Amino acid sequence: MPSKLVVFTLLGCLAIASAAVLRHPIHVVYGAQNPAAPLEAVPHNLKVLPKDISAPELNRLMQQYQRSLGVPCGYCHAEAEGGKIDFASDENPMKELARSMMVMTRDINEKYLTQIGDRRYADPITCGNCHLGTPHPPAFEGKAK
Ligand code: HEC
Ligand code: HEC
Repeated sequence: MPSKLVVFTLLGCLAIASAAVLRHPIHVVYGAQNPAAPLEAVPHNLKVLPKDISAPELNRLMQQYQRSLGVPCGYCHAEAEGGKIDFASDENPMKELARSMMVMTRDINEKYLTQIGDRRYADPITCGNCHLGTPHPPAFEGKAK
């Protein structure tokens, strides 16, 4: 059926397009590396991350949060009208909660795991170690021996 073919082709294009958007979400709104980008695109509301963080590093971290919790950017960031996200806004309370999680994760690595002298924990703990792809880390029961 030709109409079926059209639907399948459209779905395929949509899948490819959304995959591309997911892989490069920040570049649409955030262009510190691009001198042609408007000045407002440079991050100006960082309270935990270093203020001079590079665009690729910020991008990498945000995608890590997204994957670790299995949530979209808008889970922590305020969505303005028309579905556009205002990344600098602190209106979404989840963002402040995420900030305290960032400080906690940093403390676990820098204050506590560093006390293990032989560096068995060479890989730093990340959000994903606890979150396992969900905003609410599952309780661990373990198996009875
Ligand atoms: C788990 C929560 C969470 C998720 C999910 C998340 N972010 Fe963030 N994002 C934050 C927090 C918290 C900050 C502020 C960090 C700070 O204060 O140092 C931030 C800061 C930013 C900034 C800098 C804004 C400014 O001007 O200061 C950008 C841009 C950004 N995020 C983009 C994204 C994108 C794009 C995604 C989706 C791929 C995303 N974020 C997903 C929590 C999140
Ligand atoms: C040591 C384990 C641990 C680490 C590491 C950790 N979290 Fe969490 N996080 C939790 C627990 C436990 C909760 C509470 C979940 C619940 O309410 O069911 C939570 C809750 C959250 C929530 C609130 C979810 C909601 O819907 O209420 C956010 C957002 C979050 N964490 C972000 C992060 C980010 C971002 C990182 C990494 C920078 C991180 N967490 C690292 C254990 C952790």
